[in-house]
Amino acid sequence: MSMDLPSGRVLVTGALGQIGTELVEALRKKHGHEAVIATDIRKAEGCQILNVMEKEEINTLVVEEQITEIYHLAALLSATGEKNPELCWDINVTGLENVIAAAKENNARLFSPSSIAVFGPDCPKRAPQITPLNPTTVYGKTKVVGEKLARTSGIDMRGIRYPGLISYKAPAGGGTTDYAVEIFHNALENGHYECFVREDTKLPMMYMDDAIRATIELMDIPFEQLSESRGGYNISGCSFTVGELVRSIQRHLPDFTCTFNPDIRQQYADSWPDEIEDDIAVKEWGWKPKFNLDRIVDEMITNLKK
Ligand code: NAD
Ligand code: SER
Repeated sequence: MSMDLPSGRVLVTGALGQIGTELVEALRKKHGHEAVIATDIRKAEGCQILNVMEKEEINTLVVEEQITEIYHLAALLSATGEKNPELCWDINVTGLENVIAAAKENNARLFSPSSIAVFGPDCPKRAPQITPLNPTTVYGKTKVVGEKLARTSGIDMRGIRYPGLISYKAPAGGGTTDYAVEIFHNALENGHYECFVREDTKLPMMYMDDAIRATIELMDIPFEQLSESRGGYNISGCSFTVGELVRSIQRHLPDFTCTFNPDIRQQYADSWPDEIEDDIAVKEWGWKPKFNLDRIVDEMITNLKK
């Protein structure tokens, strides 16, 4: 089988997480198994240990393995991050700076995700690409810094403001949008879910297949085609309330029930927009989602039942 080989090898940090589990699979399919080096602070088969706080180790790996493309996924997400803001800042900002330094050393291109958490309560409920970014969470602030570094670091660095991601291959990693993943496991295992945000909470969401495709499509676009928004493109998937999600799950599991017991994560959710305006990503690199709410639910239920 012929592979689409990059000029060097590809490094993925945080490869054992919700996104990394599926991105590594997709990149290995695209470039060949040997071309992709999966790393994480945790240990697993087929994955090397790499702590993104270890600047010299990253540098050595990037130079020795002739890495020319990096997907930097190691981070703390919003819920875990707000419990330990200093650690969140260290991993999300210092870790990113360490990876940027290594990318510079070997002239590597870098993908570093942003998030809908860059927006704050002053943002319109349908978030435009270009708007003041005043997040209330430390996690959101680290993502604003990441987007700025994409403009100022002097390397080819790109990112996407991922919505909440829904997938079945790996658990969600400690974010506010985790309810939209946990609900499926609980619906199938217990027939009941106690949700940590209100029934009317509406957030931008996306199925993982769309997110992985977006990531690879963005990295395939010539740099000259991308604007100053390249550090964090808005991309829309679909937006729904928890109530709408429950009703869509009940199409498959009519006896499923959900109760609501909001905790601190409600505040983070309330500070984020309901919907995403993705006209710039559509114009610059042709972004188009494939999964709506019912299709996501159909895929999740079918795959988790297997
Ligand atoms: P995740 O929590 O599932 O995975 C992160 C991985 O990073 C974990 O496997 C963890 O072990 C690893 N890690 C933590 N500290 C590390 C360190 N010091 N060195 C190396 N590895 C370390 O997160 P995810 O959902 O896969 O998210 C990946 C990226 O995408 C993050 O930047 C996140 O902010 C962003 N993002 C995710 C979502 C989402 O809904 N999943 C939405 C928006 C943005
Ligand atoms: N899904 C992520 C979170 O909830 C958003 O970046 O933290």
